[in-house]
Amino acid sequence: MKSELLKILRESPEYISGQQLCGHFGVSRTAVWKAIRQLKDEGYKIEALKNKGYRICEIPDIMTAEELKSRLHTEWMGQNCIYLESVDSTNTCAKRLAEEGAPAGTLVVADEQTGGRGRRGREWTASKGSNIMMTLLLRPRINPGNASRLTLLMAMAVAEGIQKVTGLPSGIKWPNDIVVHKKKVCGILTEMSSEIDYINHVVIGAGINVNQECFPEEIGATAGSLGMELGKKICRAELAAEILGELEKLYNIFLQTEDLSALYQNYNRLCVNRNREIRVLEPGNEYTGTAEGINEAGELMVRRADGSMARVYAGEVSVRGLYGYV
Ligand code: BTN
Repeated sequence: MKSELLKILRESPEYISGQQLCGHFGVSRTAVWKAIRQLKDEGYKIEALKNKGYRICEIPDIMTAEELKSRLHTEWMGQNCIYLESVDSTNTCAKRLAEEGAPAGTLVVADEQTGGRGRRGREWTASKGSNIMMTLLLRPRINPGNASRLTLLMAMAVAEGIQKVTGLPSGIKWPNDIVVHKKKVCGILTEMSSEIDYINHVVIGAGINVNQECFPEEIGATAGSLGMELGKKICRAELAAEILGELEKLYNIFLQTEDLSALYQNYNRLCVNRNREIRVLEPGNEYTGTAEGINEAGELMVRRADGSMARVYAGEVSVRGLYGYV
């Protein structure tokens, strides 16, 4: 009831009477009043006028399950939403829940991570209460060898979501860093539990720097936040809901072929490395070339100086711009 109530209040330009709300939910006036009081306790400013009813006048930037669900337009992604004020890592938590039988589409969101994890064993730090830290649980019936492509879908969903909600020109640094004005604003960590031919579950975690105002010196040159780039605060729940909506659409398309044949051109439009000089860092093998975008398998096509084409598979490889991070 709380997320539906939030949606009604937010979308109504006028006061809504207690009676209307009672009728809508089929509950007593006291039940409506209690739900309103709970929302006020969570930080929502709700005006209550005699003979007129209720009107929401300020929405806090919070990521509770109710706030998120009140904004979701998905059929199943995120509909089972678990919000935690603080957790070690939303990925670790989602994996635990997956082992316990949580359904596909379960979303774990936290306001703080005490052991946030990045790719290649690095840590992921993000200030409390101002960023998005979320992990989606999936149970795709696909070949485990194709699962790494899911990361590219999340990258597209995040880049598109950022553009829609903020208007910022976000792009993807292959394979899955999201950049705005050459600063990394989001990282994605995908983990899988599988057998040789069967996926138990995949968790896709996204850490998005939304309203963070400064970064530690070590990453200050390459990291940025959407708020810093836009010059104003962004509603985290709105952005997260938009991303999940995008992802659900992309996922349905992906499942038809298990590759990116219907999506790679879209990815390439967002890819900031395309037509740029890059250095490919493979263990024991470094070379430079021009990135020509990804193919249907999600591999980066790199034209070497001698004219030959290398197909770079994400895994252990990293890619740098010749003249900086991008
Ligand atoms: C990277 O190294 O770029 C990937 C960073 C992924 C961070 C996110 S935050 C939410 C989820 N939980 C984690 O512990 N990591 C991912």
